[in-house]
Amino acid sequence: MEVDIGKLNTILNKYGGDKSYILAMFQDIQKEYRYLPKDTLKYICDKLNIPFSKGYEVATFYKAISLKPRGKHTIHVCLGTACHLRGGPNILDSFERVLNVKKGDTTGDGMFTLESVNCLGACALAPLVKVDEKDFGKTTSVTVNKIISEFKDGE
Ligand code: FES
Repeated sequence: MEVDIGKLNTILNKYGGDKSYILAMFQDIQKEYRYLPKDTLKYICDKLNIPFSKGYEVATFYKAISLKPRGKHTIHVCLGTACHLRGGPNILDSFERVLNVKKGDTTGDGMFTLESVNCLGACALAPLVKVDEKDFGKTTSVTVNKIISEFKDGE
């Protein structure tokens, strides 16, 4: 992974090189790369003069930050109570099977990251799946294929 030092310096300067903004810096880097590459984490820690272990601790504590490459699209399968009762686990199984990844992983082509969540706040649409910002309500294993095709075709 080629790291753009210029971009990292711009992010550092945006927060005045203030270490209390380290999480915001990580979020900005993640917007650029869709994850936080280890080299960028190391660079920021060096520049802020904090130990790598400390930066790593911050990066791994917050779920919003990923140290693993993420897919272009994130699929969230809801496993909250309503969705769980209406077949959410089967929907998750279908995605795992069709995409050939486990929950938390990213497909080899870098297209999708598969995750589960606890209640997306629209239980009437259970079982609910959210891909990026788009909701898919009352999903079945048949719609799983449609959802994947929709996002693949949109490329
Ligand atoms: S439980 Fe799935 S949206 Fe609430």
